[in-house]
Amino acid sequence: MSDSELLALQTDHLETLQQRYEQALAEHGFDSLLISSGAAPMRYADDQGWVFHGYGPFVHWTGLVDQEFSWLLIRPGQKPVLWLFQPVDFWHANPEFSPEPWHQQVDIRFIAERQVPSIDGAGRIAVIGDPAYLGDVAGEHNPADLLTAIEETRVRKTPYEIACLARANELAVKGHRAAQNAFLAGASEFGISLAYQQATGQREAESPYHSIIGLNEHAGTLHYQYYDVEAPSQPRSLLIDAGVRFRGYSSDITRTTAAPGEDRFAALIHGLDQLQKRLCAMVAPGVDYADIHRKTHQGLAALLVAAGIVDGVDEQALVSEGVTRAFFPHGIGHFLGIQVHDVAGKRTPSPEDAPFLRLTRTLEPGMVVTIEPGLYIIPSLLDPVLAGPLGKHINRAVIEELRGCGGIRIEDNVVVTDDGHRNLTREVMAA
Ligand code: GLY
Ligand code: MN
Ligand code: MN
Repeated sequence: MSDSELLALQTDHLETLQQRYEQALAEHGFDSLLISSGAAPMRYADDQGWVFHGYGPFVHWTGLVDQEFSWLLIRPGQKPVLWLFQPVDFWHANPEFSPEPWHQQVDIRFIAERQVPSIDGAGRIAVIGDPAYLGDVAGEHNPADLLTAIEETRVRKTPYEIACLARANELAVKGHRAAQNAFLAGASEFGISLAYQQATGQREAESPYHSIIGLNEHAGTLHYQYYDVEAPSQPRSLLIDAGVRFRGYSSDITRTTAAPGEDRFAALIHGLDQLQKRLCAMVAPGVDYADIHRKTHQGLAALLVAAGIVDGVDEQALVSEGVTRAFFPHGIGHFLGIQVHDVAGKRTPSPEDAPFLRLTRTLEPGMVVTIEPGLYIIPSLLDPVLAGPLGKHINRAVIEELRGCGGIRIEDNVVVTDDGHRNLTREVMAA
């Protein structure tokens, strides 16, 4: 899709938001809504601020993730008013703001001070955002029922949002290719991070989450957060979980690569990849997302047996006795959008058999989810299984061999369509 087609979709997106927000306001008895962009807090007892990423509803309307101390007013039947904070400041630059078609749909005013706009005739007004930046502005702050309704406006993505998520995937895939090449050329975790940022053109602070780049056993720490600057003497595996933000929208992609000669680990990656594709194929309207999580455990049980990791136990027992959970302790995925773990996934608690599942809803067209099965060698989870009644069925020699490869995760970003799904990640990887 060309840039101009994407920008044309954005104007439809704003019209849809106007309708959705008007309905949410009417249902909860409000006449208007003031949204704060928020701002980055300062580090405690320091003059340095944290990296700023704007508040979700503000980004939902504007796509502006780096505008601090700014405000957006929504009223039924009226143009939204956007106050953008653009101070005169010789220490810092203001965020870039070049003309785009959607600016015609919004009344844009620039403010040079950190001030709350004065609003006349707003009626019953709700004010939402980080309470630290709402101060004593008049109105009801963060009313819970309205916030729930506003989160709900983000669940079924508009065509514009899906186009942005597709672009975020295109950019991230470039980074993943560069990261894999850097690994195969012997780069360290730090070097792989640099290759990823170079290829995506986005520095890590601007990306939706801190990249997870683990070599060897580091790949077994689910959210491994450091970068060794030296490559290991024998690189065996790379797990990289990294995304890109495009006009506020996030990608969240994971790939795992075996070093040449790591045949057993490579076969396991292949097995998990096959399973992951079957799980992606389940994504369709009417499907209970928790059932995809359950299918993952069944598939992992079969894979553990096929790979010779477990022997002589019924596959169903591997699931019911918690063996698969020791190898795959997290949920199968989550909503994806402005936030990497996007809002409104859990209107009901996680089922007992999936305590970390962040998404417990039935899938509907327009939802965007990740599908991210994993298989890890995590000593703190596996040791109790090895010491338990099923321990004798687990092939310790194979576990020992795989331990130094850490683990595998394969993660795609998948849209629920009217009659099935669209895999935003694989369609780029296959291109
Ligand atoms: N990158 C975090 C996650 O996959 O959920
Ligand atoms: Mn994810
Ligand atoms: Mn991820």
